[in-house]
Amino acid sequence: MNSAVKRIAVLTSGGDAPGMNAAVRAVYRACVNFGIDCLGIYRGWNGLINSEVKRLESHDISHIINRGGTVLYSARSKEFMTEEGQKKAVATCKLFGIDGIVAIGGDGTFRGALALSKYGIPVIGIPGTIDNDISSTGYTIGFDTAANTAIECIDKLRDTMQSHERCSVVEVMGRNAGYLAMYVGIAVGATAVLVPEEDIDFEQDVIEKIRNARLNGFTHYMIVVAEGAANGAYEVAKKIREGLGLDPRVTILGHIQRGGSPTARDRVTATRMGYYAVKALMEGKANRVVCVQSGDMLDIDIEEALNMTKTLYPLDAETLHAMTGSNH
Ligand code: F6P
Repeated sequence: MNSAVKRIAVLTSGGDAPGMNAAVRAVYRACVNFGIDCLGIYRGWNGLINSEVKRLESHDISHIINRGGTVLYSARSKEFMTEEGQKKAVATCKLFGIDGIVAIGGDGTFRGALALSKYGIPVIGIPGTIDNDISSTGYTIGFDTAANTAIECIDKLRDTMQSHERCSVVEVMGRNAGYLAMYVGIAVGATAVLVPEEDIDFEQDVIEKIRNARLNGFTHYMIVVAEGAANGAYEVAKKIREGLGLDPRVTILGHIQRGGSPTARDRVTATRMGYYAVKALMEGKANRVVCVQSGDMLDIDIEEALNMTKTLYPLDAETLHAMTGSNH
């Protein structure tokens, strides 16, 4: 490809997600394919501020497609949101001759990319977060692995809850986003699912659902709570204890959901997105986010992507409520 781009740098930022390594690898391999240099920026936007940059070699990226975490490390950078931090980052780009950056992360990462775009540094974002809460794309790298991890854990929990005829309150990640909780809740056949995006009527949405399940002959109940919903799992358990006299057990799945070997879906999506991002920079595109919509890969302006509103449900709310709980 005929392009003025000689050197592309890649970074991972924000909460890590399984499949980020596959995306980094794909960026490297695409650069090799186009005959250009690939640099790794370590520790997210902080690394760009502090010049933590190194030319990637084949041994840096070999055998990482199957590894969780990120070999480039990750961070959330407050300094990058200041003008001073951004100017230092621009100086690093000049020093290393960086013609474009591929930034892998969530909406915080894309806000950083937007800030950098003001200084004329082209950035292409790749959505990587287990939350799947980037409005412009139907999928974010890491979601599938995290969902399957949570499902496997909750299936195990169900075994012991069933034996002891207990109520389980299980918290999955998602401070501001309930997509993971909702998806996992459907997949495990939860009695109730609580997400931060919805107003909760505790009596109706939890107490009555457990009561109905009991009346239908069930003696164990699985309540899935997103981290940011209803003040968290302990508060939910307390209210169940007060409302029904049950003795629920709380399990916080926590950061375990962010680790582990990525699923095939995450590896392949990450690989496609990594290649797409490099190609976009080579074609002179700037300040775009790589998105998947109905199976197609495309790119959208970063600012536009950040301003879009995500709908929570792959199903409508009515179907979700019909698919969870024990009404039969
Ligand atoms: O954005 C990914 C995420 O895992 C959220 O689901 C969660 O609320 C948050 O990051 C946790 O962040 P930290 O790694 O700072 O604990």
